[in-house]
Amino acid sequence: MITVIGNLKGGCGKSTVTFNLAIWLARAGVDVVAFDLDPQATLSDVAEVRQEDQVKPNIKVYRPDTDPEKVFREHADGEILVDVGASNLWAMRQAIRVSHRILVPVPPSQADVWATQRFLTMVDEALAKQNTRPKIFLFLNRADTHPGLMESDETADALKSLPGVEFIPHRLYQRTLYRRSFSEGRAVFELGPNQKAAEEIIGLAQFLYPDLPAAS
Ligand SMILES: Nc1ncnc2c1ncn2[C@@H]1O[C@H](COP(=O)(O)OP(=O)(O)OP(=O)(O)O)[C@@H](O)[C@H]1O
Ligand SMILES: [Mg+2]
Repeated sequence: MITVIGNLKGGCGKSTVTFNLAIWLARAGVDVVAFDLDPQATLSDVAEVRQEDQVKPNIKVYRPDTDPEKVFREHADGEILVDVGASNLWAMRQAIRVSHRILVPVPPSQADVWATQRFLTMVDEALAKQNTRPKIFLFLNRADTHPGLMESDETADALKSLPGVEFIPHRLYQRTLYRRSFSEGRAVFELGPNQKAAEEIIGLAQFLYPDLPAAS
């Protein structure tokens, strides 16, 4: 299955989510590869850190110079995660057209809701000539941990009201472990298995891959 992880606004957590899901899948014994279609190449960089430190399982990350058709054929029975950024809109549209589902991380702010709406319009335009549509899942990333702040709930309400998408009730909160684990080439559940970030990512992964055994 091809899952695109995308949104238009930078820093919403596309690469973080792609990386953590890829490792979760690999640890569950799934044949998983990732595509880094963002010229910034964050996902490739973090996978390189992991490889240099020889952390297992290793995650294979392809760049746009690899023929996607070939990779899709070779891993037809596996999981393919595609990290797309706004800096390569052409690649983003191509990925959307071949995807089976699209996962959209959204930070809690009005600007991010607007960017998400724009992204969904782009998705519609990219799919205009197709009969089949990927399923689109939205979820909150970088949600506020402070109970007094309303932005996360307000953003969740706004996302729930968008047509043609499914809002996932699994939030990833704003936590230092996401940033630290990324710079060390480790998934959050590898670096802090008993921490809340690990629980959050595993909850999201199990929602997206309900048929897989609990891996981590
Ligand atoms: N839930 C979170 N809590 C804390 N930090 C986070 C969280 N999610 C992502 N980050 C951090 O925010 C930064 C941006 O995240 P990331 O690179 O995953 O976003 P992106 O959408 O891929 O950005 P870009 O559009 O620039 O590719 C990174 O430093 C990452 O570690
Ligand atoms: Mg990125």
